[in-house]
Amino acid sequence: MFKIVHAQFLAPGIKRFVIQAPRIARKQQPGQFVILRIYEEGERIPVTIENSDPEKGTINIVVQSAGKTTTLLNTLETGDSILDVVGPLGKPSDIRNYGTVVVVGGGVGTAMAYPTAVALKRAGNRVISIVGARNKELVILEREMREVSDALLITTDDGSYADKGFVTDKLRQLIDNGVRIDLVVAVGPIVMMKAVSELTRKEKIHTVVSLNPIMIDGTGMCGGCRVLIDGKSEFACVDGPEFDGHKVNFEVLVQRNGMYRTAEQQSMEEFKRLQKAEAEEGEVCAATSGARQGEQR
Ligand code: NAD
Ligand code: FES
Repeated sequence: MFKIVHAQFLAPGIKRFVIQAPRIARKQQPGQFVILRIYEEGERIPVTIENSDPEKGTINIVVQSAGKTTTLLNTLETGDSILDVVGPLGKPSDIRNYGTVVVVGGGVGTAMAYPTAVALKRAGNRVISIVGARNKELVILEREMREVSDALLITTDDGSYADKGFVTDKLRQLIDNGVRIDLVVAVGPIVMMKAVSELTRKEKIHTVVSLNPIMIDGTGMCGGCRVLIDGKSEFACVDGPEFDGHKVNFEVLVQRNGMYRTAEQQSMEEFKRLQKAEAEEGEVCAATSGARQGEQR
């Protein structure tokens, strides 16, 4: 069992958990993630590690409510526990002094971009960060990204905060203004990573993206996270999650991530129905009780 020592919403639907996980905290490097399970029969989900504190033995994860498991996870509070947390998984980011690096964080992907930005800054790079969100409320880690960046540019899709537009608009502006960029690191929704990669391909700027396929075991055995890189199959959990954005087949990634959409929607609808029944009749919600049972083990 992994104790949640602090839980706090960073934005609507986006929650940060500080979890007691000393072995993971000692080993974690930027770019890595964990796979967790909240109750015995529950699915395994990959989650971004935003930060770790080896002295306190804690890791920070950031979770966006998207399906049943992440919605259930985000109901957990300080003092609750998570059944399994496996990691750190994946290859760490390739940190060295490139020169000027642009770190692009889209929505909740900013949480994964943050530790990489910290490490790139420590390695002596000039770090320009671009953070994009749908609206003002969904901008996360602004203070943290500002502290670690030589410059921070923010966009919102609806213009409710900072500049209206997509992260790619800011990247385009930097390029048009003649800023010499040696590397772009982009973490966020697939459409964003694809758009960033298409833009930088034309400009011949090396670009690294962090892929988020479906994952199950996280050990390279199940094949769930297979991605197509330069025409060859690779497993994001052991060969990635970071890859050269100019070599990623984003269409295959989108198609594979959509494979279980109908089942996911059904599961979410069933979960909401049980939650409603629990609220209306004081019944114990089956899914919620699963997580609570996990707590007691
Ligand atoms: P979102 O849909 O709100 O988009 C965030 C930002 O991405 C937007 O504000 C915009 O600036 C940019 N963007 C979106 N579509 C674009 C397009 N067509 N062209 C250019 N830019 C575009 O993001 P969200 O809802 O927070 O979702 C974040 C995604 O990041 C999730 O899909 C999640 O799975 C993924 N994620 C990935 C990793 C990883 O390791 N790769 C880690 C955490 C999260
Ligand atoms: Fe199973 Fe990567 S998650 S091979």
